[in-house]
Amino acid sequence: MRRTTEGRRDEPQGTLWWHDAVFYQVYVRSFADFNGDGVGDLEGLRTRLGYLELLGVDALWLTPFYPSPMADHGYDIADPREVDPTYGSLGDFDALVADAHSRDIKITIDLVPNHTSNTHEWFRSAMAAAPGSAERERYLFRDGKGESGQEPPNNWVSAFGGPAWTRVPDGQWYLHLFAPQQPDLNWVNPEVRADFERTLRFWLDRGVDGFRIDVAHGMAKPPGLPDMDPRVSALSSGDYGDPRFDNDGVHEIHQLIRKVLDEYPQTMAVGEIWVADELRLARYLRPDELHLAFNFRLVLTHFDADALRTTIDRSLAVPMATGAPATWTLANHDVWRQVSRYGGGAQGVRRARAMAVVELALPGAVYLYNGEELGLANVDMPAEAMADPRARTSGPEYGRDVSRVPLPWEGDEPPFGFSRTTRTWLPMPAEWAPLTVEKQLEDETSTLSLYRRAVELRQKHPAFSGDELEWYGAPAGCFAFRRKAGGLVCALNTSASPITLPPGEVLLSSSPLEDGKLPPDAAAWLV
Ligand code: GLC
Repeated sequence: MRRTTEGRRDEPQGTLWWHDAVFYQVYVRSFADFNGDGVGDLEGLRTRLGYLELLGVDALWLTPFYPSPMADHGYDIADPREVDPTYGSLGDFDALVADAHSRDIKITIDLVPNHTSNTHEWFRSAMAAAPGSAERERYLFRDGKGESGQEPPNNWVSAFGGPAWTRVPDGQWYLHLFAPQQPDLNWVNPEVRADFERTLRFWLDRGVDGFRIDVAHGMAKPPGLPDMDPRVSALSSGDYGDPRFDNDGVHEIHQLIRKVLDEYPQTMAVGEIWVADELRLARYLRPDELHLAFNFRLVLTHFDADALRTTIDRSLAVPMATGAPATWTLANHDVWRQVSRYGGGAQGVRRARAMAVVELALPGAVYLYNGEELGLANVDMPAEAMADPRARTSGPEYGRDVSRVPLPWEGDEPPFGFSRTTRTWLPMPAEWAPLTVEKQLEDETSTLSLYRRAVELRQKHPAFSGDELEWYGAPAGCFAFRRKAGGLVCALNTSASPITLPPGEVLLSSSPLEDGKLPPDAAAWLV
C-alpha cells in the first residue's frame, strides 16, 4: 500500500492537490449509521460516498474513530492505531480508503498528539507506577504546592473550564489542558515522539492522504510551567501570551511530522491552531512545518461587509508571508452552526448561503462541515441530552452537541435514514423533514443545490485561478472583490437594501436577484 518515496518539497504550489481543495469534515458519529446502534460509523460513511462525490468535494477530514471511552467523543484516544468497534474495524477503514480513492476523493484523518485518554495503557501504567518513574515521565505529573502538596502545581485552567490539574491518590497531580480524562503527554520524552511517528506511518502506510493535527499549538509546554495571567483564562484559549499554548518548542514537533510526511508524496497536514496573531500563525507554515493552518477568522466575524473584508485581508496576510495556501472555514464541530450564528431562521439561512458563496470564491483550501450544505442550524436540546464534557464543566450554553446532531438523509421523520433506530445518540428534530438530502437534491433552489453548483464552478471555471484578490469600491455595507488572475468577481450585500451589481455575467447568486439587483443578505459571482 505504501507509495513511492521520492521527495516533493520543491513541487510548485499549483500541483499540490490541497492548494485549492474543498475539504469536507465528516463528524463520524453523526454522518451515517450502518450497524443500527444510533451512532455513525465508517461503513455508513462508505455507503454515502456517492453523495460526497455528487457534492463534488475533493477530500474528507474524518474526526477521530479510534478506540475511546468517548469522554470527549473520541478526542480522548485509548489506542491511536485501531478503530473503535462503535465505528467499525481496520478492514472497514481500508475499504473506505479504497472506495474513496476510486472516486477520486482523498481521505485525511484527525490525530491528537497533545493528550491521550486516561484509559490508554500508558496512563494506566503511569497511575500504577510511583512518582518519578519512567511511566509517569510520559505525562506531566508534578508535586502540588502548599505544605502537603494540596494545591495544584500552577494556576492553569482547562479549556473546558475548571482546573487543568487533577490529583491522584499518592498526592501527585497530572496536567490536562482539556478534560481530566485527557491527560497531556510529555513531548520532551523521546518515547512520546517515537510513538507518534509510529502512528503517522501506520496510517500513511494504509493509504491516508493527510492529517488534521488536533490542538497543534498545544503540545510543547514552557519550562517550569509558570502560572498564567488569571485574566487570560477568561478569554478564549490560544491567545498570544497564554503559556498553555503556542510555545516555541512546538515547532520542532511539526518539523518531525513534516519529515515523515515528506517521505510520502502528496500527503499533507493541517493544524488546528487557535493563534490570532498572523505572524505567530505563519510560523507553523514554514517550509519544514505544516502544509496548512486552520484560520478561524471567518468563524469569529459577524455578518458585516467591512468586518468580513478586514477578516479576508488579515487571513490572506498569512499565505502572503509564507507561500502556503490560505484556508477558510465557516464551521466545525466545536462552534455554533453558521445559520444560528447569523441570527437563525430564514435570515440566518440566507446569510449562511451568502457566506458559502463568499468562502468558495476565495483562493486556497476550504473546509466545509457536514450539514452546512443542508443549511442546518443548531438544534435546541435539553441540558440532560448533552454529552459534551464542556457542557458539564462550563454550562449547557457552552455545549457543542447543538452543532453535532446526526444528518437527515431521507424520509419524513427522525431518524431520517441516518440510522435504523430512532434512538440516535443525539435526538434529531422533526422540523428537519424539509431539509433532508433527498428533498434538497430534488429542489434546484435548495442550499444543497447551491453548494453543488458553487463547488462545481469553483473547480471547473477558469475564473477561479490565481491567489491574489483586488477590492472594488462598493456601497456601504457591501463589498466586491475580484480574483486578479482569473477575473471572478464576488459581491456581498450585508446592507438593508438591494444593490446594483458590478458589470458582468452572473454565474451564481445565493438568493434570486430582484430586478437585476442583489438583495440584502446575499452574495453573487460574476465574470
Ligand atoms: C480540538 C477538537 C475538540 C476537542 C479538543 C480536545 O479542539 O476540535 O473537539 O474537544 O481538541 O481534543
